[in-house]
Amino acid sequence: MPVPTPADLAEYARRRRTLMKAIGKHGVAIIPAATEQTRNRDVEYRFRQDSDFWYLTGFREPEAVLVLAPGRKEGEFLLFVRPRDPERETWTGYRAGPEGAERDYAADQAWNLDELDTRLPALLSGREQVHCTLGEHPAFDTRLTTCVRRLRETSRRGNGAPVGFTVLDETLHEQRLIKRPAELKLLRRACDVSAQAHVRAMRYSRPGVYEYQLMAKIEHEFALAGMEPGYGTIVGGGANACVLHYVENDCVLRDGDLVLIDAGGELQGYTADITRTFPVNGRFSAAQREVYEVVLAAQLAAIDEMRVGRLQVRPHTAAVKVLVEGMVALGILHGEVAELIETEGYRRFYMHGTGHWLGLDVHDVGRYRIDGKPRPFEAGMVMTSEPGLYIPPGSEGVDARFHGIGIRIEDDVLVTAKGPEVLTGGVPKKVDDIEALMADAAATRPRK
Ligand code: GLY
Ligand code: MN
Ligand code: MN
Repeated sequence: MPVPTPADLAEYARRRRTLMKAIGKHGVAIIPAATEQTRNRDVEYRFRQDSDFWYLTGFREPEAVLVLAPGRKEGEFLLFVRPRDPERETWTGYRAGPEGAERDYAADQAWNLDELDTRLPALLSGREQVHCTLGEHPAFDTRLTTCVRRLRETSRRGNGAPVGFTVLDETLHEQRLIKRPAELKLLRRACDVSAQAHVRAMRYSRPGVYEYQLMAKIEHEFALAGMEPGYGTIVGGGANACVLHYVENDCVLRDGDLVLIDAGGELQGYTADITRTFPVNGRFSAAQREVYEVVLAAQLAAIDEMRVGRLQVRPHTAAVKVLVEGMVALGILHGEVAELIETEGYRRFYMHGTGHWLGLDVHDVGRYRIDGKPRPFEAGMVMTSEPGLYIPPGSEGVDARFHGIGIRIEDDVLVTAKGPEVLTGGVPKKVDDIEALMADAAATRPRK
């Protein structure tokens, strides 16, 4: 497990300083690492570090606990970590231990995990607010609240015990919402590799291939770059594309159908989130093309709204307008555009939002509204643009030629002072470009 470079350590230290400034010297932040989750019997799911903990420490081990105590004389950056244990390490790998946490991760002080309950009261004493991830790690929440309760009981009239718990939304998560250069470097690479993975799947597609085989092409590309899927890969052929969270990926792809792929690779915690929909055989039918052009126009309209100072709801509003106009023009919806928007009469075919923050979490942290009002975009925010239309088989009142068409197009967009920057442009989305790429693949494919 490579340890952080001096540049990485400086970056983590800067993030911690920003957070400590936000919580002030009367606050303390307590953030646990993720814990391992059993898959079955002696087998665990592949471990993934908690995003908040990772953002502030770069420490990969499970179970650890980070305490940030601004202004504490003996040190502000404290880690509780699993102890060294030669026998356990033979089975499950190297542990830094407290010594390694100080040496390689620059903790001011580090202790064995089993000292947490005895040391925590002193660390909380004199702090008014405890900043923590309430609800994310219920067992840890109980441990923390128990400690605070004891402190309140034992300290004279409760003096010196914290008076409140604050979730991290207003501090750490606001910080994470604006991506730093070091983060954008990772995210750009995750986006580039993911775009190439989609290209590879597009080139491989043909009737008779299975959905899981396209998934394999995509995930192989991630793995070659030292990445893994940032979320469950979706490969839905034909009407499977109308199931928003379809992950079975076990059907054969049929001539004349579209296939929808929603897949993003994760690099050091940062994930891309890309969707493309294309014809299994490389050529859009007239009906598929008509619906596709509507979704693409909506997607471009949404991206164009991602500008500094504009409200974050504008991409969705713009996408909905284009989708509804398009559906009325195609006879998929009937009525007045304004009324269909007002009454949300489009939700039968477009039932999800148009985008979300993206970063260490695929649905990243950061508030969408402040004081109940949509917030404006700022430079450094990253949002997806992902409108779609889903017309399941048997949709009443819709011409049968549109039945079974499910289309989503999703890109990742960085808001900059110069306008929206699409980070995932390496995979085509125009009809002609997709058809040209797939025709080239078919022409150069070795014949059996
Ligand atoms: N892949 C998850 C999403 O698009 O939101
Ligand atoms: Mn998304
Ligand atoms: Mn997606």
